[in-house]
Amino acid sequence: MSKASHSVGHIGSALDWSWENLQFLRMRMQGLKNKEAELGGLLGELDGYRSLYESLTGRSFQQASIFEVGYGARPLRLLALSSLGLNARGIDLDAPSLEGSLHELWRILKTNGWLRFIKSMVRTTVFDAHERRALDRTLARRGARLRVLPDRFLVGDVADVALAPASLDFIYSEDVFEHIPREALDRVCASLAQALAPQGVALISPAVFTGIGGGHLVEWYPDTLGRDIDRRSEPWEHLRQRRYTPDCFLNEMRLYEYQRLFERHFTVEAVHNLQAGHGHAFLTEEVREDLNDYSMEELLGDKWRFVLRTKREEPA
Ligand SMILES: C[S@@+](CC[C@H](N)C(=O)[O-])C[C@H]1O[C@@H](n2cnc3c(N)ncnc32)[C@H](O)[C@@H]1O
Repeated sequence: MSKASHSVGHIGSALDWSWENLQFLRMRMQGLKNKEAELGGLLGELDGYRSLYESLTGRSFQQASIFEVGYGARPLRLLALSSLGLNARGIDLDAPSLEGSLHELWRILKTNGWLRFIKSMVRTTVFDAHERRALDRTLARRGARLRVLPDRFLVGDVADVALAPASLDFIYSEDVFEHIPREALDRVCASLAQALAPQGVALISPAVFTGIGGGHLVEWYPDTLGRDIDRRSEPWEHLRQRRYTPDCFLNEMRLYEYQRLFERHFTVEAVHNLQAGHGHAFLTEEVREDLNDYSMEELLGDKWRFVLRTKREEPA
């Protein structure tokens, strides 16, 4: 099967693609039940951004110029931040579905390709209206209403976007860097580093390949990990048998490779394992033996957060 859009990888077969997308649909349907709790959690995450930024810089988040790398097909963080009156914008390779206008649909088809277009249509029809209403209600509890500001949503490759020097106070990116080809990452980091203000903060949080969900098969996603479901793949299948292909491109980078990448461009203030212990129940002796090349730390944790600051010039 051919590549469907820039953000989709080499899909092994029509069967793999259909299986992955059916699992994904099932996960999303289950997620409908707890939508407001999920969105409450998301606003909590944004509160975390605010307190981290304010404690590190002593500046007000409300005044910050904020930029998201890879806002995704459900750009909830960016929608919430702009609805809360923050100066936030972002970029994604794929055109988002924001207003449902014909012009927008045409752009989605042109930019994202027909496979992605069909997925967008299913998502828009089945999930988006419900999710946006729930977001509006969640925001209302904080005295805000959902505001959709299309000009905040740039469409393009972050590797190519022109960002003015020192123009951004806070950069964040969730579950995106593992999808960017290795050869583009130095350019991306150099561009973000020069755009970050001297006092700025960047939070880059990739799902690292060596975690149990790092292979991006839906049956090992954090949302499905705790469920007692029949799985066709083995735990850490992507580091062992590698029989199945996810519906996305992965650069397969390990933790130390991210660390080196970020150290070249930023000061690494902190590194956090956001899901420490994830997958522990599946790490039997037999599996551990297969995975001897990896440390426990990098196996038991999917998502990692790198807290980055502007690199100071070394005195000559
Ligand atoms: C797994 S999704 C995560 C979306 C969102 N951050 C979230 O947490 O729901 C990854 C997103 O990164 C985007 N992406 C991947 N490579 C990119 C690039 N080079 N420039 C901009 N966006 C990119 C994809 O189009 C996709 O929407």
